[in-house]
Amino acid sequence: MTRGTTNPNRLRRCDRWIAGPQAWRLRRSPGPPVVVDLGYGASPTTAVELHDRLSAVRPDVQVVGIEIDPARVAAGKPLERDGLSFRLGGFEVPLDGGARPTVVRAFNVLRQYAEDEVPAAWALVQERLAPDGLLVDGTCDEIGRRAAWVAVDATGPLSLTLSLRMGGLERPSDVAERLPKSLIHRNVPGEPVHEFLADLDRAWARHAPHSSWGARQRFLATAAEVRESWPLLDGPSRWRLGELTVAWSAVAPAGR
Ligand SMILES: C[S@@+](CC[C@H](N)C(=O)[O-])C[C@H]1O[C@@H](n2cnc3c(N)ncnc32)[C@H](O)[C@@H]1O
Repeated sequence: MTRGTTNPNRLRRCDRWIAGPQAWRLRRSPGPPVVVDLGYGASPTTAVELHDRLSAVRPDVQVVGIEIDPARVAAGKPLERDGLSFRLGGFEVPLDGGARPTVVRAFNVLRQYAEDEVPAAWALVQERLAPDGLLVDGTCDEIGRRAAWVAVDATGPLSLTLSLRMGGLERPSDVAERLPKSLIHRNVPGEPVHEFLADLDRAWARHAPHSSWGARQRFLATAAEVRESWPLLDGPSRWRLGELTVAWSAVAPAGR
């Protein structure tokens, strides 16, 4: 258990990705999709926000906040409403009737764990996922300006997404200290994720002249250049938001 900082709107960048490029997972669910906010923290705000945002995609979505800390579950209970509930638990994802979650978002949870504990936590969730289900294991700063997350389905990790507030961004690798636990210790020379961030920084520096049209134009040019040598899975409509997703196979720890 930790202090559990949970600032309102902190996870908006990840919510936007789940409600955007990942919305098909919710839409395809034959019954009401279950989405879990795992380790929602001292305040249930992020679960409430997730429910608000995903209801626009699937009005029947069932968001369940799961916490290991009973006091935090008690804090969530008064906010329960149709489609939003809170319960005690962890990565085993306990749900009524053995329901299988379409999305499990665990933000700023595994960062407190050791790197070698991550695969077991992922595996527990992977076993529970619905057929189109996804685990989103991510990290961000206190107010959600810089975020990074790994998407994992039943077969294994699929992608790494970086999402950055472009105003005031010095360089894309500013996100390095917010990498998920599976990558944060790998941001060293010789590791693919380090090369990826270095290439992003080089392209960002080269496209400095685009700044006169705004940071967004600079980010778009940076991503377009990086796509020449890295398998980016998205395009300009996401890059415009300061978001960029790369195939996990390209940035996975060396030797894995
Ligand atoms: C730093 S807070 C993050 C809160 C929120 N997700 C956010 O990003 O703002 C981490 C939370 O994860 C919870 N936690 C840690 N291990 C957990 C586990 N195995 N299962 C469920 N919750 C866990 C802690 O109790 C804490 O409230």
